Amino acid sequence: MRHPPQSLTIRQPDDWHLHLRDGAVLQAILGDSARQFGRAIIMPNLRPPVTTTAQAAAYRARILGALAEVPDEAATRFQPLMTLYLTDHTAPDEILRACESGFVHGVKLYPAGATTHSDAGVTDLLGHCTGALEAMQRQGMPLLMHGEVTDPTVDLFDREAVFIERVMMPLRKAFPELKVVFEHLTTREGAQYVSEAPGPIAATITAHHLLYNRNALFQGGLRPHWYCLPVLKRETHRLALIEAATGASARFFLGTDSAPHPRGAKEQDCGCAGCYTAHHAMALYATAFEAVGRLERLEAFASLNGPAFYGLPVNTATLTLERADAAIPQELPMGDDVVVPLAAGESLPWRVRR
Ligand code: DOR
Ligand code: ZN
Repeated sequence: MRHPPQSLTIRQPDDWHLHLRDGAVLQAILGDSARQFGRAIIMPNLRPPVTTTAQAAAYRARILGALAEVPDEAATRFQPLMTLYLTDHTAPDEILRACESGFVHGVKLYPAGATTHSDAGVTDLLGHCTGALEAMQRQGMPLLMHGEVTDPTVDLFDREAVFIERVMMPLRKAFPELKVVFEHLTTREGAQYVSEAPGPIAATITAHHLLYNRNALFQGGLRPHWYCLPVLKRETHRLALIEAATGASARFFLGTDSAPHPRGAKEQDCGCAGCYTAHHAMALYATAFEAVGRLERLEAFASLNGPAFYGLPVNTATLTLERADAAIPQELPMGDDVVVPLAAGESLPWRVRR
């Protein structure tokens, strides 16, 4: 019998979907991502949201300032790839400024009301945003989509599948050359659509949607730290995501959607959506890939497919994962608060070599 590998060295990965927040929280969590990833696409859902290139420049400067304080030489090379938050009023000129900046790499669609800090989001994509979308299509600026409808009559677990029919397909018919990233894919329908659809489309997949199904939310009681949006789905969907992430298509790549909230904001009568996974992200992904015997596919998913879609070079550095019984801390300091990482108190069979 072949011995399982004791280590795995891959090109340094990137995180194509990350929430870094701001201020003291940013300072506390940034090192977790910067120690593993070369670059990350930084989500713009601050309060107020990052809707202009000038705001993205200021946010980027704050991230780089925080990075300079991370006490870890290897982490200081991390590059934040900025995004704009699309609104009903985003002007085509703003898209041109974003393209010319060189540091904005995507424009994020939050359907208004779909998730955390999405109230300033889009109410009617094809009704209000065609000017911005035309400019994006022309300039090759990707649209990063939170793919869920907000119609309260649609069951929460069906909102991604319904989004494909109601929003994604009409959008791509109207803008067939627009580069689209279907963010944090969670369903079989989504995986099938992205695999087969014509034109420039890709998808990010989180580690938690590869490792857990919706039972995790209710195992032994109601578990708020497993709650995120789009919510965890049935096992058949998890299996379809595993197939997509570990398969041959270059359209699927890594996006943690790591989204920290203070412990108290999760453990309350109306808890926030978001799982904090940045701390042990690559160990989670390696565990998911190894569980189906596809560890050798991790590099394409984590380090090669994303840069290819975004038109960026592959990182030159490498990252080594080593087999080790690695405990996930019960909580981590976060500014004046603490954050509970996903699967706190459990252990993983991999860790990143320091
Ligand atoms: O679970 C989530 N948390 N989903 C999102 O779309 C946003 C994120 C956050 O910002 O907390
Ligand atoms: Zn997100």
